[in-house]
Amino acid sequence: MGSKTKFIPQNELDHQLDLCNHIHAFWHEQNITPLAYVETYGCQQNEADSERIRGLLSQCGYAMTDCAEGADVVVMNTCAIREHAEQRVFGNLGALTHTKRRHPRQKIFLCGCMAGQTHVVERIKKSFPHVDGVFSTHHLWRFPEILKRVLFVGKRIYFTEDETGSIAEGLPQLRDNGLKAWVSIMYGCNNFCTYCIVPYVRGRERSRKSEDILRECRELIASGVREITLLGQNVNSYGKDLDEGLDFSDLLSKIAAIEGDFWIRFMTSHPRDAGKKLFDTMAAHPKIAKQLHLPFQSGSSRVLKAMNRHYDRPHYLSLIDYAKEVMPSLVLTSDVIVGFPGETEEEFEETLSLIETVRYDALFTFIFSPRQGTPAASMDDPTPKEEKNRRFDRLCALQNSISEQIHEAYVGKTVRCLVDGTDKDLLTARTEGGRLVRFPGDPAWIGQFMDIKITGSNTWSLTGNIE
Ligand code: SAH
Ligand code: SF4
Ligand code: F3S
Repeated sequence: MGSKTKFIPQNELDHQLDLCNHIHAFWHEQNITPLAYVETYGCQQNEADSERIRGLLSQCGYAMTDCAEGADVVVMNTCAIREHAEQRVFGNLGALTHTKRRHPRQKIFLCGCMAGQTHVVERIKKSFPHVDGVFSTHHLWRFPEILKRVLFVGKRIYFTEDETGSIAEGLPQLRDNGLKAWVSIMYGCNNFCTYCIVPYVRGRERSRKSEDILRECRELIASGVREITLLGQNVNSYGKDLDEGLDFSDLLSKIAAIEGDFWIRFMTSHPRDAGKKLFDTMAAHPKIAKQLHLPFQSGSSRVLKAMNRHYDRPHYLSLIDYAKEVMPSLVLTSDVIVGFPGETEEEFEETLSLIETVRYDALFTFIFSPRQGTPAASMDDPTPKEEKNRRFDRLCALQNSISEQIHEAYVGKTVRCLVDGTDKDLLTARTEGGRLVRFPGDPAWIGQFMDIKITGSNTWSLTGNIE
């Protein structure tokens, strides 16, 4: 099997970087340092993409600012996962008419997952005339070309043609954190869960070559990064499209073998593809954080089938049992959807009982939101909104009490943490499992691993002291 993945040729990437130089020269000749504001919605994939957009803008001579007011370029990197996320974007996009009126040379771009939906692009064309350019995730690497055309030709531009997707290596990245880095290892998704828009807007699964990922990780660690989070919609299918003979567990082992003091995290794992080899690999390497985000979505096998998740409740629970057996200190988190079309009271209670059985440290909880073009959007959905809200509240109350109990059990223990910032007059740190700890200390400690004695807890976080 040969590699099916399309890599953007170097000469095309070089051309984009040349265009950055033209734009840079344009501003330089006028003695202006232009400002750019990039606003990110959605998941870590979008955070990572925004770092690439900022990298390209910085090559074009832009300095970053933290608000739209007075910015010469505003980029809205959007999320389409739920209706609420889209409404926020439309609201904020509308407000940009005012910032543009006050600063007429402002150029406004919309990109990310919403830009991959035809109906959204049509709405922007019709109702948001102040938006200068729209580009989907597949066209991000061509942002210099898009910016140049908007600046010099002055016409609205749309780079939104649908694609299965490609990989553009070596785009400049402007990372906003010197301690923690996102590293995309793959893009897209092939799973087509029936509720989910991601495969439609991000294309098919494609993996970066392991040598490129390893080089990036080595460079990050050499530059002082202490925590690397590997990103993909389904990291467990890493490498299936390449002919390297390397799977995700092999990749993890290779990264864990890099010299230095750091933690590796990854997300997201899919219960269909995660298995013993992954958990054994995690258990074997001290640098791989004992933290697992394993979305279950529903505790009912019938609902899981309707969601096209390709696993059932017993299989999910057997994975958790094995993972806990080989990693007794494992911190578990997950995603769950309440109110999938046709979910009955009994099926919802299966979700509650799964939560009680597994006892997650934290959950990301969502009410089903119909996404245009996905199969679930046209399924019969007789449950009233109020009932879904009630279920949601019951679920959150259960999870909050579990999180509180799990956090309480930390009190009195001393745990190794990475000190990562400040919060008012305290320092913040994360445990290996990703739990937040606040404690008094010297900001000079930021960036160090330290043993912190936990002295207090609540549902969301821990407090501690250095002994
Ligand atoms: N690739 C990851 C998740 C990506 S989206 C995975 O498979 O687990 C993050 C979460 O958003 C999903 O896990 C799901 O719980 C939630 N989600 C996705 N589509 C949704 C929808 N239409 N309505 C409600 N929640 C949704
Ligand atoms: Fe969406 Fe499912 Fe793919 Fe996750 S695995 S991105 S939930 S389709
Ligand atoms: Fe949203 Fe796109 Fe991520 S839809 S959750 S930003 S992949």
